[in-house]
Amino acid sequence: MLVQSFEVLGKIRRRLFGNAYSFLQESQFSLLLAQSLSKILKAQKGKTKLVTAYTDTGLHGLTEALMDVGFVWEDVRHTFFGRDPDHNFDKFHPYNPLSDLKKFEFDVILGSQGIDLSYLARSVRQTLKAIKLVNFQTCLHINKISILAVLAYFCPNHSSILEVGSYQCGTSIFMAQLCKTLGKHVTIYACDTFEGMPAATAPDRSDQVFFDSGMFTNNPINRVQKKIKSQALEGYIRLVKGDVVKNLPNLNYENIYLMFLDTDQYRGTQAGLDQVKRLNIPHIVVDEERGRSCEERGRSCDGKGAGKGAGAAMCDSLLCKICIWSILLFHRR
Ligand SMILES: C[S@@+](CC[C@H](N)C(=O)[O-])C[C@H]1O[C@@H](n2cnc3c(N)ncnc32)[C@H](O)[C@@H]1O
Repeated sequence: MLVQSFEVLGKIRRRLFGNAYSFLQESQFSLLLAQSLSKILKAQKGKTKLVTAYTDTGLHGLTEALMDVGFVWEDVRHTFFGRDPDHNFDKFHPYNPLSDLKKFEFDVILGSQGIDLSYLARSVRQTLKAIKLVNFQTCLHINKISILAVLAYFCPNHSSILEVGSYQCGTSIFMAQLCKTLGKHVTIYACDTFEGMPAATAPDRSDQVFFDSGMFTNNPINRVQKKIKSQALEGYIRLVKGDVVKNLPNLNYENIYLMFLDTDQYRGTQAGLDQVKRLNIPHIVVDEERGRSCEERGRSCDGKGAGKGAGAAMCDSLLCKICIWSILLFHRR
């Protein structure tokens, strides 16, 4: 009897606290992704605030937090859409019929009628649950992963992603698994020597911290391929072995939606940037934190006062508005 009561109490406790916890987790994921989405859209539209419409009640509890990251209301009466107009939600959150939604009045529509953050947050959680930890060897922290998650969400079905400098493919595996969870097919070309860093060159050595041969060697191609196989992602990730300086000019991949450039060296970064025009790549993320960000340089890259190492490659390039993690580059938009 006593044991049974404990079991019942345990169940109640798990249900109460378990649900609250997963609600909190879901909100945290939604907010993290919202922050990334806001960065991407602000860079894309050249705005500091995004006039936002909400459809569905899913994000209701988060609207204040969403405002903090840049999703603002122009007029509270015109913000929430989707509900029957005769059954307004409450005084503070009046709902309008969807037919009243004038899409051109907003920079962004959040909800199932637009960018579905809740769905993305659920999918990211599901993705992280599906990836074995041993296959998630990524150099990226969660804020960077979150930016790539949003870009993967936007990747059209049957498009491609080019990861230049993929190391153990933990990031490729994450993006591929997320696309799979989202129900679309994206091919990720993961380029690396799979034998470690090439020798550092003079521009790399000008940086206080630089990467040289002998580093990042624990990613032999057969071991990485095994990880991909054990995640059942062979249909999503193609490994491209060799020096990207030699390989990239000969690659003729079509429909590349995103280039994630992460070699941590001048030569590799330059080699990636050199292909942006030829391969007609609309979105680029460069992982180079030691170079000065565009934000510091007034948002546009003037080719002067560049960062060091791989950062210098970005500013040596003729492309402007090259972006580092704090902002993103949207090439030729
Ligand atoms: C920082 S790691 C990449 C991390 C990976 N993107 C991630 O998210 O986990 C840098 C990788 O770039 C590769 N790399 C650097 N220069 C290269 C080059 N010229 N050709 C091919 N691979 C290169 C290195 O072998 C190394 O594995």
